[in-house]
Amino acid sequence: MPNLIPLKTKNKPLITADGSISLYSMDYNEGYRAKSVGAFTESLHKFYSASGIEELLQKQDVRLLDICLGGGSNLSVTLDRVLSMKHRHKLHIVTVERQSSLFDTIRQNKFMWPYGGYEMLRKLIDEGQAEDIRLDIAIGDARNILRDMRMEFDVVYFDPFGKRKNPEMWTVDVFRDVHRLCSDIGRAATYSSGREIREDFVRAGFRYTVTPKPDGAFQEGTVFYKI
Ligand SMILES: C[S@@+](CC[C@H](N)C(=O)[O-])C[C@H]1O[C@@H](n2cnc3c(N)ncnc32)[C@H](O)[C@@H]1O
Repeated sequence: MPNLIPLKTKNKPLITADGSISLYSMDYNEGYRAKSVGAFTESLHKFYSASGIEELLQKQDVRLLDICLGGGSNLSVTLDRVLSMKHRHKLHIVTVERQSSLFDTIRQNKFMWPYGGYEMLRKLIDEGQAEDIRLDIAIGDARNILRDMRMEFDVVYFDPFGKRKNPEMWTVDVFRDVHRLCSDIGRAATYSSGREIREDFVRAGFRYTVTPKPDGAFQEGTVFYKI
C-alpha cells in the first residue's frame, strides 16, 4: 500500500489516472508524469509510440538518449514493450539525471509498473547490460553533460519538468545540443506542446509533428525531427 512506503527523499509516490504509480517532487511541486493521464499511458503514448522507436528497432540498432530519467517511467514502458518484440535489433540507452537518489528509488520500489519493464531497468542499472540492451548512466546537470557529449542518437526522450519550474532545460542552447546529438534520422519526443518551446526547437534546427492528446491530457505532445 503506497501510504506505507517510507519517504526517504523529497519524491513521494503518486497514484495516477490509469492506476500506475509515478512520483511527486516536493522540490519542484510537480508530478513526474501527468496524474490526469496516467504515468504508464503518458509514457507509452507521448514517448514510446510517438517516437517510432519500435519501428526503428525492427530495422536497425537504435541509440536512445533519455534526458531526465526521473522515476524511470519512460524507460520501463519502453523496455517492457521492447522485451515483447519478436524480432528486434540492439538497443543502447544513455540516461541523464541529476538526482542520484532516484536510482535507489527505482531499485527499492518494486510496486512500480509495468513490472517487467522495471525489473529490466533495475537489472540494467545494476549490471549495465542484459540480453542485447545496454544502459549507460550520466549523473549531473544535463546541460553540461549534453554540451560535452560526443555521440549520436536515433531517438531522444526529452522530459524535464515544465518550463515554469525547470526553465534552464528549455533553452535554445540545450535544444541545439540535442540537435547536434541526433543522427540523421534522429528525433526527440516530448510531452510538451508549448508554442515558444516549439519555436525554439525550430530555431535550433528541428521540424516537428504533433502528438495528439491522450484521454485526460490537457496538452498535445511534440516530436522534433532533425531532418
Ligand atoms: C518530469 S521528471 C522525468 C520523468 C521521467 N522521464 C519518467 O519517465 O519518470 C524530470 C526530471 O528531470 C530532472 N532534471 C531537471 N533538471 C535537470 C537538469 N538540469 N539536469 C539533469 N536532470 C534534471 C529532475 O531531477 C527530474 O528527475
